[in-house]
Amino acid sequence: MKKSKQKHYVEPEEQMPSKVTIPGLLTRKNTGTKILCLTAYDFPTARLIDEAGFDVLLVGDSMANVVLGHASTLKISLEQIISATRAVKRAVDRPLVIADMPFGSYQISNEDTIFNALRLVREGGAQAVKIEGARTERIEAIVKADIPVIAHLGLLPQSVNIQGGYKTQGTTLSSAKQLLQDALAIEKAGASALVLEAVPEIVATKITEQLTIPTIGIGAGGGCDGQILVFHDVVGYSMLPAPRFVKTYANLANEVRRALGELKKDMQTGAFPEEQHTYASKEKLPENWDKL
Ligand code: KIV
Repeated sequence: MKKSKQKHYVEPEEQMPSKVTIPGLLTRKNTGTKILCLTAYDFPTARLIDEAGFDVLLVGDSMANVVLGHASTLKISLEQIISATRAVKRAVDRPLVIADMPFGSYQISNEDTIFNALRLVREGGAQAVKIEGARTERIEAIVKADIPVIAHLGLLPQSVNIQGGYKTQGTTLSSAKQLLQDALAIEKAGASALVLEAVPEIVATKITEQLTIPTIGIGAGGGCDGQILVFHDVVGYSMLPAPRFVKTYANLANEVRRALGELKKDMQTGAFPEEQHTYASKEKLPENWDKL
């Protein structure tokens, strides 16, 4: 029997891990080579971020606010994060892909948390998961299940109701000391890196010095081992006001507005479509072809 020449098809998210790995990130600590991270929730964005040479893509639950229009991150489901992670993972070759554990996916029990983290890895293709708060027991449980964990301290969007809004954290001596203790505890629990959000630079820098795992800052100053921002904020494609810590490098929303304005005019006037946008028939049809 003739052997089939068909190539074995491998789902992209089942391919080999990305070139940037968790052990690779750990070796960056204190080398001065910053870890460059951005959020991504879809295929084209992830492809562009990979092309630009960023190291890490986070499929963040900020997708809830930024692209789904929710008022908080509390509404997004595990299935929505899995679906976005699959799209991102399909797009990238080099960057490490981290999936956020959404609100409700780790509150119930260690077993439930492990089950949900496994889904992000097996179904989404994530290489690590991110979990908000000093949840050492959960971090230990996920790491024991062979899934790397990125912890997240400081401003915790999923704790908006506990923290009473979106507020800078670690701004007093006691809260700064608490943050440092929490950071040391999550490192002991086995986290591979720590995101520090909206924390004074002096606090984030000290935490960075005291930890052996890398810190990734967002609104935490320049002393962290890496930086992360929300993609839509950076390129001016968010309908929400950007936080103080964001630097905006483009205004995509205005560019889209301009393009849509032109298209609208062309559609109204008939300037679109032009000949190159239409198909010719193969045979020359007479005027009354419909009657023939
Ligand atoms: O969901 C997200 O985008 C995040 C970043 C702000 C770190 O958690």
